[in-house]
Amino acid sequence: PATDARLARFRDNGRRLFQSRIGQLELSCASCHDDNWGKRLGGSVIPQAHPTGYPLYRLEWQTVGSLQRRLRNCMIGVRAEPFAFGAAELVDLELHLTERARGLLIETPAVRP
Ligand code: HEC
Repeated sequence: PATDARLARFRDNGRRLFQSRIGQLELSCASCHDDNWGKRLGGSVIPQAHPTGYPLYRLEWQTVGSLQRRLRNCMIGVRAEPFAFGAAELVDLELHLTERARGLLIETPAVRP
């Protein structure tokens, strides 16, 4: 993760967004990815939501896609209005995820179902 002190408030906002309940299902990112990773949601295992594989090839997309595309999918999944591609909120979430994955190896290009 980037260490520039000027990023702190954006990273803090990303952490706040990660923990805020959204959508008609009223779930936060953390409800699934911190509190219930490893369990099943329908046919999928809930991962820890690390950004280390992006951009990656997703079978469901039949192409390579960005981390923002993945985050928007999760927002749509809880029936929230997804942030637009390039929105400041998505960038803040990406910053938080990068901080949260500190120390993990980069694995891109990765593959996901
Ligand atoms: C209802 C549970 C749920 C919520 C809430 C949720 N996700 Fe997810 N998320 C999933 C599942 C399930 C997958 C894996 C989907 C698959 O493999 O098809 C996933 C995948 C991801 C991945 C990809 C991880 C990888 O290894 O490729 C990231 C990153 C992610 N979510 C971030 C978020 C963020 C940020 C939020 C909040 C805006 C969020 N998710 C909200 C269930 C959730």
